[in-house]
Amino acid sequence: MRIVLVGPPGAGKGTQAQFIASHLAIPRISTGDIFRYNVTNHTELGRKAREFMERGDLVPDEVTVAMVRDRLGEDDAQEGFLLDGFPRNVPQAETLKKLLLQEWDARLSVVLELVVDEDEVVRRLSGRRTCRRCERVWHVLYDPPARTGICDDCGGELFQRDDDSEETIRHRIEVYAEQTFPLLAFYADENVLIGIDATGPVEEVTSRAMAALRPFVR
Ligand code: AP5
Repeated sequence: MRIVLVGPPGAGKGTQAQFIASHLAIPRISTGDIFRYNVTNHTELGRKAREFMERGDLVPDEVTVAMVRDRLGEDDAQEGFLLDGFPRNVPQAETLKKLLLQEWDARLSVVLELVVDEDEVVRRLSGRRTCRRCERVWHVLYDPPARTGICDDCGGELFQRDDDSEETIRHRIEVYAEQTFPLLAFYADENVLIGIDATGPVEEVTSRAMAALRPFVR
């Protein structure tokens, strides 16, 4: 199954992607996570992406597309994948469509949109904390760890992402509206778009997501 998860920053894509990918036994491919790994490890790719990410802008398509092409070529992605955070604009979607057809004679199975309003997005992002060691994502109000600043799972230190400052959050929301929102019409035209209400407890959103995806599971 080849799935794309789309939604504004903070919609819960990363949170839901983990559960969905694990239920369906497919790899979760998060372009944001791959970029962050490369920034942290000071690679050439990280050097190219860093300034764009810090501003909350999209990393240039040629950098992003080359990275995704390599990742989709790996063994674990041959039978299916869940893309989280890619494509992010219509040119990336067109490139992905061509790539799947040329390399795998395949198409996307479904694009799942997580629908959340802007106020909730700001609440979710401003309270997000991530574990430095195991990368588990927490929320100071919605999903707090037992001890402030410490991951329950591994004891690692929690940190706030650089791009989760209020100013950068607002900019990322604008970038989403201008560049990513048009993707929804693109995928509606392709007849692969379904949307779910992504508000409420995480487990309820997961149940809605799995119910929406069930018709596409082979
Ligand atoms: P990326 O990491 O993809 O950021 P994003 O799309 O802005 O999404 P987030 O990771 O911020 O949020 P999310 O939807 O995953 O929410 P989460 O599950 O964490 O990209 C970062 C940057 O990389 C981009 O700005 C860009 O520079 C670059 N980039 C990435 N892909 C690119 C591309 N294709 N092209 C160009 N550049 C690219 O949840 C958020 C919080 O809410 C958490 O604290 C969580 O615990 C909480 N939460 C989740 N669900 C719920 C719920 N149901 N109820 C209450 N709280 C919840």
